[in-house]
Amino acid sequence: MNELAGRKIVLGVTGGVAAYKAAELVRLLGKAGARVQVVLTDAGARFVTPVTFQALSGNTVWTDIWDPRMANNMAHIDLSRDADAVLVAPASADFIARVAHGLADDLLTTLCLARDCPLLVAPAMNRQMWEHPATQRNVRQIVDDGVTLFGPAAGDQACGEIGMGRMEEPETLLENLIAYFVPKTLAGRRVVLTAGPTFEAIDPVRGITNSSSGKMGYALARACAQAGAEVVLVSGPVALPAPVGVRRIDVRSALEMRAAVFDALPGADVFIGVAAVADYRPAQAAEHKIKKSGETLSLALTPNPDILTEVAARADAPFCVGFAAESRDLDAYAEGKRRNKRLPMLVGNLVGDGLGSDDNLVILYDDAGKHPLPRAPKSVLAGQIVDHLAGLLAARAIPS
Ligand code: PMT
Repeated sequence: MNELAGRKIVLGVTGGVAAYKAAELVRLLGKAGARVQVVLTDAGARFVTPVTFQALSGNTVWTDIWDPRMANNMAHIDLSRDADAVLVAPASADFIARVAHGLADDLLTTLCLARDCPLLVAPAMNRQMWEHPATQRNVRQIVDDGVTLFGPAAGDQACGEIGMGRMEEPETLLENLIAYFVPKTLAGRRVVLTAGPTFEAIDPVRGITNSSSGKMGYALARACAQAGAEVVLVSGPVALPAPVGVRRIDVRSALEMRAAVFDALPGADVFIGVAAVADYRPAQAAEHKIKKSGETLSLALTPNPDILTEVAARADAPFCVGFAAESRDLDAYAEGKRRNKRLPMLVGNLVGDGLGSDDNLVILYDDAGKHPLPRAPKSVLAGQIVDHLAGLLAARAIPS
């Protein structure tokens, strides 16, 4: 996905062992469509050479403020002028201290002082250095000056200690950067979603499920988090990692999903039911594996509760968004479900289009009518669904 297409990112790399991860970050940024301009400090170049960054970014790597290759000798001005952001990863304690004090004694700090775009900083240092009052004072200062921090994370450190100060992984930094550019239309909102299939046990090894992959629900959870919401994702069994910034709760059956949703619901502004919840479950799951007998086997099924209907019927119901996957007559069935479940918004799709695939063709239904969206990857549709949802939420907030 070219989610950074058209963006220019100046990547500053300072002296820390996490510099080796910056090489992977350059690759990921390029894959996401960004133009990457690497600026390396002297200490950074001791960990990874400019040649590596040049090969990965396809651009000249700048290290020296006195580099005569820049015609006007003003690399500190020219490099950041058409940039969308300066991202420094890893950012050492020394770099943060120098930025906090407005020092400009090498190319990267001079460029940071002279920039007219956002400065994003991914700290990376030993836990004692991170916790030191001087570092904490400097971090507060740069945040007060408008710098955005990505991390740090806690965990194993190169020095063998464990604690806060690790640089976020390159994949997480990429996600943070993509999210940074998304308008915060859901800031201050709490969103609860369901995703994936449910699994209704027949016996200890068998069950009834369906082919929902969770891709649509996970893409929507990610888009809500990118738009600034606090997100809880109640997920049936799928093989997907939790999106960055999303709290995921794993469940198996519809009953477990219902319990997790109602646990997560207090304070929620929005509930989105993307999960393909089984309408029925075996009336009685066998305690032991059912043995083959050669005889016909009948399975008594009992209806599952409809989670979305129950949530939407509450006196304090959040803004509820339903999904409907149909095999025919999409408009009639989808709009019928929206009305029966009393939903302000529903996303309709045909099973042949949406189930398991990477892209989808959906129609949005609300009180104003139907709004078809062009076929697109689920990540793109998720952003469009969030935009529509945010518009309806904002309109609700305006007294008529
Ligand atoms: O996971 P993917 O492979 O990416 O596929 C995405 C999807 C096709 C599963 C998704 O786009 C979708 O359409 N999900 C809804 C599936 C469906 O048909 O649901 P339904 O018609 O059974 O239910 C309608 C709505 O009620 C849904 O929001 C559902 O989550 C909710 N529901 C249904 C039954 C139930 N017991 N509890 C519920 O909350």
